Amino acid sequence: MAISRSELARQLRGHVELLASGGVRELGINTKAAMAAKPKKDSTPSARKTTPAKRPAAAPKSKPTQAGFKPVIVPSVALQELKAFDSKKSNELQPVAEAVRVCANCKLCETRTQTVFGTGDPRSPLMVLGEAPGGDEDVKGLPFVGRSGKLLTDIIEKGMKYKREHVYIANVVKCRPPHNRNPEPEEIEACRSYLERQIEIINPKVILAVGLFPAQWMTGKKIAIGKLRGEVHEVNGRKIICTYHPAYVLRNYTVETRKKVHADVMLAVDILGSGPLVS
Ligand code: URA
Ligand code: SF4
Repeated sequence: MAISRSELARQLRGHVELLASGGVRELGINTKAAMAAKPKKDSTPSARKTTPAKRPAAAPKSKPTQAGFKPVIVPSVALQELKAFDSKKSNELQPVAEAVRVCANCKLCETRTQTVFGTGDPRSPLMVLGEAPGGDEDVKGLPFVGRSGKLLTDIIEKGMKYKREHVYIANVVKCRPPHNRNPEPEEIEACRSYLERQIEIINPKVILAVGLFPAQWMTGKKIAIGKLRGEVHEVNGRKIICTYHPAYVLRNYTVETRKKVHADVMLAVDILGSGPLVS
């Protein structure tokens, strides 16, 4: 008997959730077997026996690495995006995104749904640097797509009057810390070389560090965000501007906080000028 698409989707979701609860992190899809298994309208039981369906490929099990972690390894959204760009910088970023995709340098590799490498135009003179993926980012494979992301987009588009897709956006840590806890110092260190390569390749004129961890990462100063914001730092010939994290702004949604963030982002606009960031 035929079942509706919504019922099929419901059953499939249940099946996938069951596999996930059993530790399966990746599904192999055998399209030939799936096609062979598709019942034809006029097929009789005996006719079906003559077209044996191959067993679908078993889901690959994650193996412990040298460091003892069992990484979740799935396709990378960032890699697909970079392939579509086809510029020199996007070509150079691809092996870095691939290294991140399979990375098992810290324990966050075991609990991620997928890695969140970065998004946007690698030719941009402006890079926005956040802390780590949250729940929404972990599901979508893209940075700043949840509630904080909505505010960040408004800051870029309504405040700075740039297009979000003209900005390159990434995080200090590429995998979600469970329950959105802070990234640990050893996780930040384990992930350091990827961000270093991203910055080297993109070579942005200005980096806007949103939140304490990116602000400290960029400036190397272990002091409060309130002390780091409000000025332009110069690091390796690059301009670094620090401001509050959008999640902090949402929690402290006062005129004072929003004025400070606005003043900070306008420091970047003063350097970069108004108008399209990428032509
Ligand atoms: N917060 C961050 O710092 N980064 C994201 O990508 C999302 C939320
Ligand atoms: Fe690797 Fe960074 Fe993910 Fe840790 S957070 S597993 S270092 S990509």
